[in-house]
Amino acid sequence: MNTSKEIPWSELRVRAVAATQLSYAPYSKVTVGAAGYTSKGDIVQGSNVENASYGLTLCAECSLVSDLTRVGGARLIAVSIVAGDHQPITPCGRCRQLLFEHGGNELQIDAGEGKNPLLLGELLPGAFGPDDLGVRRNS
Ligand code: THU
Repeated sequence: MNTSKEIPWSELRVRAVAATQLSYAPYSKVTVGAAGYTSKGDIVQGSNVENASYGLTLCAECSLVSDLTRVGGARLIAVSIVAGDHQPITPCGRCRQLLFEHGGNELQIDAGEGKNPLLLGELLPGAFGPDDLGVRRNS
């Protein structure tokens, strides 16, 4: 586990920008790319994938979580999510929940160069997560 290693923010930003180029966003024309740094030291990436049935759109973070599974899984330590203008965006509500599953409250989210990263726990306080399931089951 590399949880104490320094986070390669520049690399994450470069990879997130590169992922915007692979986005499929013919409807909104908002290209989004995401890159994440894992506890195993991997960098995973994702791009948004839209659909003619608009509500089925996959956000870049969704695609990043799929990539995380593809590399064998790990905890997410930090993510950078950018739009086509290369500026950071904060994850949508659904993606906050998706990211929470794999990074928890301590997941660091890029707020841009020279700014302190945000913590997922600040963006999604009181999240429902895997730990809640065991204690809330009826049997
Ligand atoms: N989008 C993301 O990929 N991630 C977010 O957190 C916010 C929104 C995408 C979905 C859609 O393809 C486009 O941005 C416009 O909403």
